[in-house]
Amino acid sequence: MSRVMRAPTHGDLYSVANRWPPGPAREHPPRKTPQLSTQLRPTDVKRLNRQWRRRTEGRLALLVESVTQPYNLGSILRTAATFGVDQLWLTGNSANPDDPKVGKTALGTAAKVEHTRMASTADALAAARADGYRVVAVELASGALPLHAAPLEPDVCLAVGAEDHGCSPALLAGADAVTYVPQIGRVGSLNVAVATAIALSEARRREWAGLGGEADAPAGS
Ligand SMILES: C[S@@+](CC[C@H](N)C(=O)[O-])C[C@H]1O[C@@H](n2cnc3c(N)ncnc32)[C@H](O)[C@@H]1O
Repeated sequence: MSRVMRAPTHGDLYSVANRWPPGPAREHPPRKTPQLSTQLRPTDVKRLNRQWRRRTEGRLALLVESVTQPYNLGSILRTAATFGVDQLWLTGNSANPDDPKVGKTALGTAAKVEHTRMASTADALAAARADGYRVVAVELASGALPLHAAPLEPDVCLAVGAEDHGCSPALLAGADAVTYVPQIGRVGSLNVAVATAIALSEARRREWAGLGGEADAPAGS
């Protein structure tokens, strides 16, 4: 009698490839039916944001030096609003937050971030210090610490530089520390708005990681 062989499915191959130690297949306990995850509604997101706001005390600021592309500045403003940046200083020839092109990516969030244009980077550094911030420049620079090891605990002011030439020597020299986002791809650098988002997220994560289990509750629970 001939037997009909079926071609191995992706699942068969996966389970053989991942069996360790190799040997006969083991019985697995029946899986629990996973709860269906659904997107939060806007009111739920508002409630969730409120919960995180209540748990977050550290002050966070941002110094933006010569970010000339309006879409980049808009994106930075939106991320700054998301992570509760208390103060944003603009220096050099940074784009204007009121430029309609900034609004295309800021989507109305520019009004939610207090921002001040300063005459020079030195003035912005002095203002940040006077407000009690440690300034950490975010740049691929000699002596910079990888992000995970950088002193990002509150109160911290992160500083990012121009799309074409990066943070100025004055900014790097005037900062209390310099940090970089490690890269493993064959790329020169991140987009400035993306680098800002990663660094702001890490700064907040430091504080949130120290909270108790209450903060680990899934969204919407
Ligand atoms: C496009 S990069 C500047 C380009 C680069 N410095 C150069 O001269 O080729 C713009 C800004 O993004 C930030 N940036 C981009 N990639 C980064 C990384 N891997 N680590 C830290 N900062 C980064 C820095 O603030 C930098 O000044």
